[in-house]
Amino acid sequence: MRILAIETSCDETSVAVLTPKDLTVVTASQIDVHRITGGVVPEVAAREHVQVMIPLLKEALARAAVTPQQLDRIAVTTGPGLMTSLMVGVETARTLAYGWQKPLFPINHIEGHIAANWLPPLDTSPVYEPTAFATMRAFSGPAPAMQFPAVALVVSGGHTELLCVSQPGHYELIGATRDDAAGECFDKCARILDLPYPGGPSISAQAEQARKAWQTRRAEQGQPTKQVQPVKFPSPMLTSHNFDFSFSGLKTAVLYFRRDHPTAPLAEICAALEDAIIHVLVDKTKRAIKQYQAKSLLVGGGVAANLRLREQLRDLDVPVYIPPLELCTDNAAMIAAAAQFHDQPADLFAFQADPNWELTPR
Ligand code: KG4
Ligand code: ZN
Repeated sequence: MRILAIETSCDETSVAVLTPKDLTVVTASQIDVHRITGGVVPEVAAREHVQVMIPLLKEALARAAVTPQQLDRIAVTTGPGLMTSLMVGVETARTLAYGWQKPLFPINHIEGHIAANWLPPLDTSPVYEPTAFATMRAFSGPAPAMQFPAVALVVSGGHTELLCVSQPGHYELIGATRDDAAGECFDKCARILDLPYPGGPSISAQAEQARKAWQTRRAEQGQPTKQVQPVKFPSPMLTSHNFDFSFSGLKTAVLYFRRDHPTAPLAEICAALEDAIIHVLVDKTKRAIKQYQAKSLLVGGGVAANLRLREQLRDLDVPVYIPPLELCTDNAAMIAAAAQFHDQPADLFAFQADPNWELTPR
């Protein structure tokens, strides 16, 4: 099967072409543009998508050496996401499907992040490059050893969700953030702390510096490893008896802490913040695995690129699948991967972008 996939839900414009032999992904990141405002301005994001969409489509098809006539289906991220960003992808896909007479498959962005686990690593990393290209050596489905039901943790700039996956394509939402997403918390705190966008990588880099400094201090002073970390933030909703999250209070805690302790070392604030976010993510994921008797854990979304989170999720009782770093952040490869498991094309004239599309069992 040959699939053309388009992803424009937030600030990455990405096009992928999947064939039985390989998968070509072409991604244009807008990070440099949004760094100026410290976050994504929807109107600006949509304009950027429009500017690069046609060149990326041409590039992806040329690199894949696939003609429009050879395509079997077109897939597009239809939600959730920023409405104006989604519309660029959706209207492009609708027009192509009509013109080329191809069936069109609307794909949920969250499903895409989970489906990134069906993919092998890319040859080159397109993470945070202004424009990047990558081709996969081969394309497979879920690893044969991947067992279901699985629990999926999707953590990104827009989402923090726990899902039960009975099999690829079949999902049940079991918990979600009630306000900000984990990545959003990283991004907003970075703004408070005058660190560059996106906040996740910049806060993580600072946190790493703090941990290295503690290690050096411990080695020099011969103190036991349990030496306390001076700054601490509570992990929100850690003790709630459900699988929901909340991160907006943590952002406020960081804001007040910064105001009340202007000389507190930035790196230590970042380490405490990262710990508070990761602690609740890991704890609730472990509980979900237990309650749903999951046989594996699937992780996805931009925050899954966080090395500390990856490290802490390794230590579970079930096999853990985390996509390679370059497939954690938004890309069209994951949309193509998800589209394989769909068999109902959309009505070309009826389907619409849905910024709040919730993944439900089908
Ligand atoms: O999945 P994604 O590319 O876009 C959305 O669907 O939102 O995720 C972007 C988010 C941003 O909030 C960014 O700060 C976060 O992922 N992120 C990270 C890391 N890399 C990206 N958060 C923590 N640690 C990282 N290394
Ligand atoms: Zn995403």
